[in-house]
Amino acid sequence: MKTLQKSFALSVLVLTALAANADEFERVPISYSTATPVNAISRLQARLDKGDAAIAYDKEFGYLPSVLQALNVPISSQTLVFSKTSLQRSRISPKTPRALYFSDDMYVGYCQSGQVLEISAVDPMLGTVFYSLDQQPTAKPKFERQVDACILCHGSSQTRGVPGHIVRSVYPDLTGEAVFALGSQRVDQTTPIDRRWGGWYVTGTHGKQLHRGNLIVANRNDRETIANNPLGRNITNLKNFFDTSAYLTPHSDIVALMVLEHQVEMHNLITRLNFQTRLALHDQRQLNKELGRAPNYWSETTYRRIKAVAEPMLRYMFFSGEAKLTEKLQGTSSFAAEFAKIGRRDGKGRGFREFDLQTRLFKYPCSYLIHSEPFERLPTEAKDYVYQRIHEILINRDYTRDFDHLTDADRHAIWEILRATKRDLPSYFAKK
Ligand code: HEC
Repeated sequence: MKTLQKSFALSVLVLTALAANADEFERVPISYSTATPVNAISRLQARLDKGDAAIAYDKEFGYLPSVLQALNVPISSQTLVFSKTSLQRSRISPKTPRALYFSDDMYVGYCQSGQVLEISAVDPMLGTVFYSLDQQPTAKPKFERQVDACILCHGSSQTRGVPGHIVRSVYPDLTGEAVFALGSQRVDQTTPIDRRWGGWYVTGTHGKQLHRGNLIVANRNDRETIANNPLGRNITNLKNFFDTSAYLTPHSDIVALMVLEHQVEMHNLITRLNFQTRLALHDQRQLNKELGRAPNYWSETTYRRIKAVAEPMLRYMFFSGEAKLTEKLQGTSSFAAEFAKIGRRDGKGRGFREFDLQTRLFKYPCSYLIHSEPFERLPTEAKDYVYQRIHEILINRDYTRDFDHLTDADRHAIWEILRATKRDLPSYFAKK
């Protein structure tokens, strides 16, 4: 764990200021650090301990291939980031990028010769739970839960103040160090394409659309190269940048990146809604007790606290403010095909994982994570609010600015898909 601690010390210097919100998720009823996680990693660990599952060690990649397989994380989701913006910074450079893999409920980070695999697991009650897995062969592999070493960055203003996920865009120099003087930003689905992917490799075609991927800043005064990134566009093969054979696949797929960027923020917003609702209800119950009110009394404040976090989640879920595509995006790996193949569909074969990739990411602008466990297990009070609003937006045609991007056809299709694929809809969804 030496590397972990060293990186941790470094990060403390840079990021202490960002961790200001940490106390919120340590409060009852969340108690983030001390609560027992229940997620795909804790389930896998239990099976490993009982001998019902095993993970194999690979000479080149350590536990990576076997862990991905055991967790059902597709190799095609690989993206490569070469900026030294994360934990194992000494292992990361333009020649030795960090590889990330993800599924709907799991994110796995791998560095060449890395001491550990880094894992952020989606946990319906705790948002995101972090683990490391030692990359030394051992008879009893153990996913170690990590809190402080990860939360510093992953529980900061970069993740909406909850334990969550990050994507950034920076301008990396020849060593992979971010040149912050040139700017940097958090990335989600609303980030214009021309600001994305700084510090990331990008394979795929995108026409004349500019982006910051594949760009190494050799001379920070060379404004022309920095702005137009002439050598970084429409790259379908990364072999001129680094030795791609050192990775499970040679891709850092543009569509995988787009989906990753949608998903990380959606997960963070669901977590925030979960936490803030539970905290608001807890505070309400305490206050009711102190004031001698009925235990189920609801104040306006409680309602407003839930609304304040539910609305941003709803806007994001319906892709409000999504960055526009002006030309078609096409990836290089099998990611898009594999991603679209799974998930729930309605009787007409329509589902939220179908891509558009011409003007926007998905054909039907409603996040597929509406089918995920963290969404389905939101506190009842949060779900009641969210469903009421979904009904209002889709059926009563909420045309306020946040939702005016949804055409009547979009609303109708989303409504039909929801009714066919969601099992937890309130009864008023049955009527039209
Ligand atoms: C110095 C800040 C920092 C620390 C500390 C850190 N990370 Fe990250 N992590 C990042 C950034 C930034 C990204 C976004 C990708 C990138 O720039 O490499 C990221 C991305 C990830 C991802 C991919 C998806 C996601 O969840 O955002 C995983 C998995 C991950 N980190 C795991 C961990 C684990 C596990 C720990 C603790 C053992 C950890 N990280 C500690 C900064 C950090």
